[in-house]
Amino acid sequence: MSDALSGPLTAESIAGAAYIVAALLFILSLAGLSRHERARAGVLYGVSGMVIALAATIWLTLQNAMGAGQGNVSLVLLFAAVLVGGAIGLWRARVVEMTGMPELIALLHSFVGLAAVLVGWNGHLLAPDLPEDLQAIHHAEVFIGVFIGAVTFTGSIVAFLKLSARLKSSPLMLPGKNLLNVGALAVFVSLTIWYVNDSQLWLLVVVTVLALGLGWHLVASIGGGDMPVVVSMLNSYSGWAAAAAGFLLNNDLLVITGALVGSSGAYLSYIMCKAMNRSFLSVIAGGFGVEAPKGVDIDFGDHRGTTAEATAELLANASSVVITPGYGMAVAQAQYPVAELTQRLRERGVNVRFGIHPVAGRLPGHMNVLLAEAKVPYDIVLEMDEINDDLADASVVLVIGANDTVNPAAAEDPGSPIAGMPVLRVWEAESIIVFKRSMAAGYAGVQNPLFYRENVQMLFGDAKEQVEAISRALSAAYPRQTVS
Ligand code: TAP
Repeated sequence: MSDALSGPLTAESIAGAAYIVAALLFILSLAGLSRHERARAGVLYGVSGMVIALAATIWLTLQNAMGAGQGNVSLVLLFAAVLVGGAIGLWRARVVEMTGMPELIALLHSFVGLAAVLVGWNGHLLAPDLPEDLQAIHHAEVFIGVFIGAVTFTGSIVAFLKLSARLKSSPLMLPGKNLLNVGALAVFVSLTIWYVNDSQLWLLVVVTVLALGLGWHLVASIGGGDMPVVVSMLNSYSGWAAAAAGFLLNNDLLVITGALVGSSGAYLSYIMCKAMNRSFLSVIAGGFGVEAPKGVDIDFGDHRGTTAEATAELLANASSVVITPGYGMAVAQAQYPVAELTQRLRERGVNVRFGIHPVAGRLPGHMNVLLAEAKVPYDIVLEMDEINDDLADASVVLVIGANDTVNPAAAEDPGSPIAGMPVLRVWEAESIIVFKRSMAAGYAGVQNPLFYRENVQMLFGDAKEQVEAISRALSAAYPRQTVS
């Protein structure tokens, strides 16, 4: 306890009060972020909570250091860490492309994991003098914290490498992979019991190496199409790793924030599993992506090409148009011309709506953010479940840079690596135009039979340029009426 303050108020109690305010702001932030309209306020709550938490932590550390006569050294170390970390964070956040967010997030999760490992090791090497009955709890905190942190660390690094295409996205299929995972967990439980009773350093070394290997294997054995669930699962693990570090450091805020991240990440993984028709339990055990993809190239016949002018003609005569955007729309930054085209068609009385797949793009809500940025009205942006039954009545579907999320193989081919994943049933519409640059596969590396269907035409080229060309063709053929 610091004696820097006299009277009933101590540095700890003031910081504790600040931590409770920060924790409440984090909860308000999560609530705000759950709705488009309140998202901006949610971000502000989060930033304010983080500023209060950081200020309170820095202040408390300095009070304690000054109490112990180490004020100057602590001050220099603390500000050096905050400045270097803050500068790198600011730089990365400013330069990162929206499409690069998932890999940045995966990398940041790896830091949380590494921090938890270091805090755990520190807890072993500088073990506090505790009464005997509390020793066992301290040992369990150290061991479990190091385990969760190390799994999160290597798991997140593999996710980063896969998402940034530095590692192949296909699953690693070691023989007896499930047995390896279960065996590693059994060894961990036995070692924990051992360490709690007899905290020898070599046990900590063994669990660190075991957890590093397990984290690597868990994520490496999951295929590309299932990566969204992995990212949110690692988000959850990083929260639990932070909470474990919070217990060790006796820091309530870290415990609360870690639990918030851990539970909201777990809930997001659950929602994603439901959306992708995967078993939640097998995901958290890292045991899905189980079947090796067939990787057989099937000859689906010929595809048909079309032009921007022909597409404009088709759209001008349509009564109902559904746009299903995907990762390619983000790459091409086509959301602004798409919004412009939407407005133009709506002015002509065409019923235009958007169908958003839950894992379209590379991060949850990716398409919603882009469309909101381009000021597409929220009420015409529908979730997959809201639009799927209406697709059969659409005159035209524009598939703009989407591939896996509109792949009929998921619904029709039980042997496909994405089998069972619900998809937008765009092929039920009257006419479908697919915007992409080539016949290449999507993120999951699976061929798409959609492109060869009778009612589908391919519009090759950059999505932004093609959408702009359609708008130009529309205005040339049907100039906007000027109000006199
Ligand atoms: P993808 O399957 O990734 O397909 C995107 C398509 O866009 C590609 O076929 C590509 O074809 C085309 N494209 C790329 N750049 C383009 C450009 N400039 N102009 C026109 N087309 C372009 O997209 P999706 O349907 O959105 O599916 C998302 C995939 O990512 C799923 O497999 C999902 O599981 C995975 N994933 C999602 C997330 C989250 S949380 N959303 C996170 C990680 C992974 P060309 O190269 O031929 O142009």
